[in-house]
Amino acid sequence: MSKLINFPENFYFGAGTSSHQIEGGQTNNWTRFEHANAERLARESEASFRWNPHWSKFKEEATHPENYISGAACDHWNRYEEDFDILTDLGLNAYRFSLEWSRLEPVEGQWDEDAFKHYQDMLSKLKEKNITPFVTLWHWTLPTWLADKGGITSSDFPYYFERYTQAIVSHLGNSVHFWITLNEPDVVASHSYLLGAWPPQKKNIFRYLKANRMLIAAHKRAYEVLKVYDRNHQVGIAKHQVAFHVLRPTLWNHFLKFMADQFWNRPWLRKIKNHQDFIGLNHYHRHCIDGWYGKNPNLIQTDFGWEYYPESLTQALTELKTYKLPIYITENGVADADDKLRQDFIPRALKAVARGIEAGADVRGYLHWSFLDNFEWDKGFWLRFGLVQVDFKTQARTIRQSARMYAEISQKKQIEL
Ligand code: FCB
Repeated sequence: MSKLINFPENFYFGAGTSSHQIEGGQTNNWTRFEHANAERLARESEASFRWNPHWSKFKEEATHPENYISGAACDHWNRYEEDFDILTDLGLNAYRFSLEWSRLEPVEGQWDEDAFKHYQDMLSKLKEKNITPFVTLWHWTLPTWLADKGGITSSDFPYYFERYTQAIVSHLGNSVHFWITLNEPDVVASHSYLLGAWPPQKKNIFRYLKANRMLIAAHKRAYEVLKVYDRNHQVGIAKHQVAFHVLRPTLWNHFLKFMADQFWNRPWLRKIKNHQDFIGLNHYHRHCIDGWYGKNPNLIQTDFGWEYYPESLTQALTELKTYKLPIYITENGVADADDKLRQDFIPRALKAVARGIEAGADVRGYLHWSFLDNFEWDKGFWLRFGLVQVDFKTQARTIRQSARMYAEISQKKQIEL
């Protein structure tokens, strides 16, 4: 028998973005990477994605080098007011976005007051619209001067990050309550230094370990700065959590799951346990285990080729209960250019959230990834995660049907299980 579940009073229903992926006009370490690697990424795309059942849909776009250069992206830097009107149109009450370090401190130690004003203006506009901001301090991009000093592997990184946080808090500290210091620090460290795929493409386990150490120290320092400024500030990170799912309950499979959780899901949250007020959960997929890793049934795949299984969100949420902290889902979504899967995904994901709440997880918000179609890092523009479709040639925005469904559920604040 189905039953109606109410989301908690004051639950946040929102959407998220990051500066580099939508603003356009960047000059940071990623733009440098894009120019140096666009040709190669376009050339290699077929070999990397031929296994993907959706490949034929994207072949045309994905094999063109310009697809891998963020360029004007969504031109959100100039269009944020119009974009915020869409948030209002959808009735969402929260918006996650990130500040672009390379705009705020383009030259070491020199702060760009206009860039601070710009973000202050964005925050004021959101306030007028009763939309609560969740502000990410760092979503992976670095000013080039800092990248040249070793970026996140520099022993000075925590110092630079603390100073950056100080500057932010003195400009924007009164306009933001929810702060996310780092986005998926483990993902960026591993892609840059274990896989060698992202800038600075240095495959080196020692650098990887150091990057993690420096990011942990940087987070803790930023946490202190934000709390000293205002002890009511709510501070956390956006943590990439995988639902490691045992298909058959054998001792060996449980052991594999234990190891995977120990390696991926737990270390960061353990190391910052005294420096976080909430857990920001970024969750996209489960990972099935049967005899070994990577045994996903893969019945349906998203455009990215990730297994489609919205229900794994419940597992991710219930596994986070042990930390006894409020949870905000800071990212969850699906790459789906046709918007067919997303229309199925949104209600199923929200049901999975409701089940997590029923199971005792203290979930207080859901920020869908993403608000707009955007620049998906080394995959370029062909993966479409947006509630809102963006035509990158004309910059026209079109609200997708799935966004309307999301709006409807978020207005009712209830879902049928
Ligand atoms: C996450 C990133 C986000 C976006 C989504 C698809 O890992 O935080 O910027 O790329 O994946």
